[in-house]
Amino acid sequence: MIQSAVLMIILYSNFVSSTEVEDPTELQEKIYWGQDVKQWGKYPYFCSIQLPDRNYQSGYRHFCGGALVEKRIVITAAHCLNNASLINDFLILPNYRNSPFKHPNDRVFKIKRYLLHPYFAKQRPTTMHDIGIILLDKADTRKNARLELPFRNLPFHTSVTMMGYGITEFGDQPYTLKEATVVIQNDKKCLDRKTGFEYSAFYNFCTQNSDGAGGCYRDAGSPAVWFYPPTNTTYLYGVLSSEQSPCATFHTDVFVSVFASLKFINDAYLQFSREELRCPRPPKPGQLRYEEWAKQLE
Ligand SMILES: *[C@@H]1O[C@H](CO)[C@@H](O)[C@H](O)[C@H]1NC(C)=O
Ligand SMILES: *[C@@H]1O[C@H](CO)[C@@H](O)[C@H](O)[C@H]1NC(C)=O
Repeated sequence: MIQSAVLMIILYSNFVSSTEVEDPTELQEKIYWGQDVKQWGKYPYFCSIQLPDRNYQSGYRHFCGGALVEKRIVITAAHCLNNASLINDFLILPNYRNSPFKHPNDRVFKIKRYLLHPYFAKQRPTTMHDIGIILLDKADTRKNARLELPFRNLPFHTSVTMMGYGITEFGDQPYTLKEATVVIQNDKKCLDRKTGFEYSAFYNFCTQNSDGAGGCYRDAGSPAVWFYPPTNTTYLYGVLSSEQSPCATFHTDVFVSVFASLKFINDAYLQFSREELRCPRPPKPGQLRYEEWAKQLE
């Protein structure tokens, strides 16, 4: 446990650090055998959460991933939002062209409000409730640029798709969004040294694939999505919390289950609406549906 706690601290300090990873040999170990997303507009709901950085022409660099579930709501990992002094600096760039670089005319967003899961960092393992929710300063008005929340738990061996701008197998940040199809593993496989024991059955799921593809630094907060043909709908099934370091050796990713976090998400919608609308009396929980909340928030 001590070992895994230490690893998580290292991992988290990489995610939340506002500086680039400086040791080039360390970078070379980070591997993410993903594929470039070539299809234009394939993942419109993907968001890059960025920090100011003068070393980049756009003035910003990718920090964490996230996903739109409503026009004004982005879901990410709690640890991406854990440093309160960075919140006002963050800029959210939706996926317009599979590129992490903001163009001068891109419509971008700021964080108006945000909530971390109330049990985040209060229960072990830290991955258990590593989920946070953002209310954007304005609505993203693009059509079909959001994911649905899941209505069920998926069985082991189900395939999901992950994507992100994390470090690649070449040790650098990609210029193009990367994707990989990964398979949900059983609890026994997830609860071992490959995940650093940072795994909680039900609240987390873990994934692997036969190519060893997976997340690496700065893929945190990025979504795992599940397409369900009968409803012709793509669901936000997971939020990437952690992967063991170095990524070259360990290819198991631990996600927060969005299905297991629906109560937190619902409570967050309620709180955002209440704050935004200054409702004198809060509605009863569970009374309104997500769509109605979203409408109220626009
Ligand atoms: C939080 O961000 C500030 C501003 O960049 C930085 O100085 C500080 O070290 C960060 N704190 C942690 C715990 O990472
Ligand atoms: C499924 O959804 C896509 C995107 O929303 C749409 O273009 C397509 O026509 C739909 N297909 C069916 C069979 O409904």
